Amino acid sequence: MFSYLTDLSCPRCGARHPAGIVQGVCNCGSPLLAQYDLERLAGESTRAAFTGRTASLWRYHELLPVSREGSVVSLGEGMTPLIALPRLGRRLGVPRLLMKDEGTIPTGSFKARGAAVGVSRAAELGVRGIAMPTNGNAGAAWALYAARAGLHALIAMPEQAPAVCRGEVASAGAELYLVRGHIGDCGRLINGAVARRPGLQEVSTLKEPYRLEGKKTIGLEIVEQLGWTMADVIVCPTGGGVGIIGIHKALTELVELGWTSGALPRLVAVQASGCAPIVTAFEAGAHESSPWPDPYTAAFGINVPKAFGDYLILDAIYRTNGCAVAVSDAELLAAQREIASCEGALVCPEGAATVAAIRALRERGEVSESDVVIALNTGAGVKYPETLDAFAPVLEPEGEIPV
Ligand SMILES: Cc1ncc(COP(=O)(O)O)c(C=O)c1O
Ligand SMILES: [Zn+2]
Repeated sequence: MFSYLTDLSCPRCGARHPAGIVQGVCNCGSPLLAQYDLERLAGESTRAAFTGRTASLWRYHELLPVSREGSVVSLGEGMTPLIALPRLGRRLGVPRLLMKDEGTIPTGSFKARGAAVGVSRAAELGVRGIAMPTNGNAGAAWALYAARAGLHALIAMPEQAPAVCRGEVASAGAELYLVRGHIGDCGRLINGAVARRPGLQEVSTLKEPYRLEGKKTIGLEIVEQLGWTMADVIVCPTGGGVGIIGIHKALTELVELGWTSGALPRLVAVQASGCAPIVTAFEAGAHESSPWPDPYTAAFGINVPKAFGDYLILDAIYRTNGCAVAVSDAELLAAQREIASCEGALVCPEGAATVAAIRALRERGEVSESDVVIALNTGAGVKYPETLDAFAPVLEPEGEIPV
């Protein structure tokens, strides 16, 4: 069987919904989670069956929602490297520091995973067009995968989003609108458009169930890459929260399958101090967040004032004894330079925020020297030329390079 998907469940009210038709959110307003027949999969397969499979996220097709191999829309996404950061790790006092590096993935960010699986499943279910608000990278990924699948894409992004993402969406031939506002404002505009345009599916963060399944594969890969063992800590830059919620779902499914064991890694949500609603909620012990007024950070992907799935993010943190940490833009931009100069990895500012957070957690004693700590770099640094300072002396052709 290509997929062991059974149906969709609501984590808030427990309702079940059929998966064979296009679905959005539950009647109670909560995101829906894809469910699989894990008992049957455990009986019919083993983790060893994955060894040697294609080096893309589709190696886990049994745990993905696409029902036929022929429905897969792929640009070769997934199976990104899990690289050691020994020098930086020594500097931070975390010698077993690793980075799951999504900078090498098609479209330049981990959003490719959600887009590949979400677009594949939408097209398989007969959807003709998708619509979404975005801080840039998700729109770029969905527009490009929609182009590959032959679907229309309607995208609204803040005017201030990274210019390269705008170019990616426009190149993909999508219908693009720039909004003088933040991602929440874009969401309202898209919502209005979908209501007036039949045939478009709204694929905002967690408003359809399958983007999460694509993001889940980060967690599946990390466990497989660690020889089916658990790390101690996984640190995720968190805006809408699809990454951290997806990783939590993956780890839970693997434990249920019996393919890994032990305590789940502590999941850490990292936000910027200019937009930290999840950190504020975590510090108050709350299960929901309040909208953050006037959000701003150079790590644009995590500039989300109110995540639709905030209670699922907080749940992933509380259930794994994790935490939420805010770092300043100065700290995350300094970390971006430090990772590049110390380890040769040019990461996006959101990814760099994880290293700034690990430094803070180590200083506070919340991460120890013996912990296996994974920093999730969610995208390529080259997508953010505006964050890369490049001062250099300019020479005339007849000038001379100093000795
Ligand atoms: C580069 C990058 N990192 C992190 C995020 C946050 O994603 P999420 O919180 O949904 O996992 C985004 C979202 O736009 C992003 O573009
Ligand atoms: Zn419900």
